[in-house]
Amino acid sequence: MDRRDFLKCSGKACAGIGLGLVLNSYLLQSCAGGLSVLKLNQEAGWVNVPLNQLEKTGFLMIRVKDFPFEIGVQKKEEGGFLALVLMCPHANQPLTKAGSGYICTLHGSRFAKNGSLLKGPSTAPLFELPLKMEADHISIQTGAFKA
Ligand code: FES
Repeated sequence: MDRRDFLKCSGKACAGIGLGLVLNSYLLQSCAGGLSVLKLNQEAGWVNVPLNQLEKTGFLMIRVKDFPFEIGVQKKEEGGFLALVLMCPHANQPLTKAGSGYICTLHGSRFAKNGSLLKGPSTAPLFELPLKMEADHISIQTGAFKA
């Protein structure tokens, strides 16, 4: 994050706090690189993502307490949802959202929005977490991931 992004993000955070936009006790939003990040807690290896958080853009970055990487949750074109661990499989580095996909800034691997590998040196796609659809949320099995 450069200085401009930091100032933008800080300004948004201050404005959000000033307006009292805290959603509830376990749900907070912040920004990272201009993207909204939803912070959630997991319980017994599962995290619940409210569906209304995905209504606007069909994409959401979540940060789960005690989970080592952010998770990208998105609506699939063919229906349903996808939850990807945003870790580069090459050397377990965090990924950055780039356009509709992801990039690893360490050695340059690129991944499509569905997690498939576009460019190495990574030789593996992104790890997809199992999920279950519920009436008003998606349950994502964070416990299925071992770094
Ligand atoms: S760690 Fe991502 S390309 Fe090497």
